[in-house]
Amino acid sequence: MRNSLIISFCLLALFFASCQGRGAAPAFVFTGDFVTIAHRGASGHAPEHTMSAYDLAVSSGADYIEIDLQMTKDGELIALHDLEVDRTTNGSGRASLMTLKEIKALDAGSWFNKQNPQSAEPSYEDLEIPTLEEIFQRYGTTVNYYIETKSTGMENKLINLLREYSIIGSDSKVILQSFYSKSLKKIHRLAPGIPLIQLYRYKEQAKMTTRELRSLEKYAAGIGANFDMVDEEYIKKAHSHGLAVHLFTVNTDKAIQRAVEMGADGVFTDYPEKVKRKNLLSKGGLKFKQPE
Ligand code: G3P
Ligand code: CA
Repeated sequence: MRNSLIISFCLLALFFASCQGRGAAPAFVFTGDFVTIAHRGASGHAPEHTMSAYDLAVSSGADYIEIDLQMTKDGELIALHDLEVDRTTNGSGRASLMTLKEIKALDAGSWFNKQNPQSAEPSYEDLEIPTLEEIFQRYGTTVNYYIETKSTGMENKLINLLREYSIIGSDSKVILQSFYSKSLKKIHRLAPGIPLIQLYRYKEQAKMTTRELRSLEKYAAGIGANFDMVDEEYIKKAHSHGLAVHLFTVNTDKAIQRAVEMGADGVFTDYPEKVKRKNLLSKGGLKFKQPE
């Protein structure tokens, strides 16, 4: 008798715990059209994460410009994909071990001209790595931003900058993304109104379980998934949990068409003009409604 009372109590506790979890979800209700996210800017045409790449993304009509963030030794947020500067500049070493002054002395464009002679432009030589603040100063609230925290520990600075430039609070102006759930959960605590996208690495994504999707619902508006690992069923499952699915990195006309047919909600692409050419139903950004 005593044992069955204990078991009943435990079952009741589990039931209420699971109800509480569901009550908090979803963080957002997704009601958008297919969106074009310019991956590192229009990085198929200009050196990634430079103002030239972002300018081209904006003129091509991309719905969002995508920005990867690294933090310098002196705590500045800069637009850079890799931990090191070696691949995309004439310098060498970890960005986190360099000051902003050292970062600013680098040439972030000439490598592109050498590797892409067909798209080379003299104006790309000597381009700087921009800070996030410089990007906000250039575009303000005239564009939509899709920003990735490439590590934890940059969330406070990021949210403060978004507030300072009035990008938080403007409808659909910013989506934040990360492979690190810890980073996204911290952002969710600091600024719960920002839509968040949980990125998945190739292998993690294949193991997506219902349990994981339920835990995502509590803080994320969607999933950023590798195009090569996704099918219709995967996207349907994410949608059934109220989660949008954005696929990376989708660069050919055939792949873009496939992403649309599978029911994806948007793509990260180095060639935003290819997606815009398709005249898909895009109204310039996702719409996220806070739950009632
Ligand atoms: O952010 C989506 C996609 O860009 C993730 O891959 O390595 O290009 O940042 P990566
Ligand atoms: Ca990225």
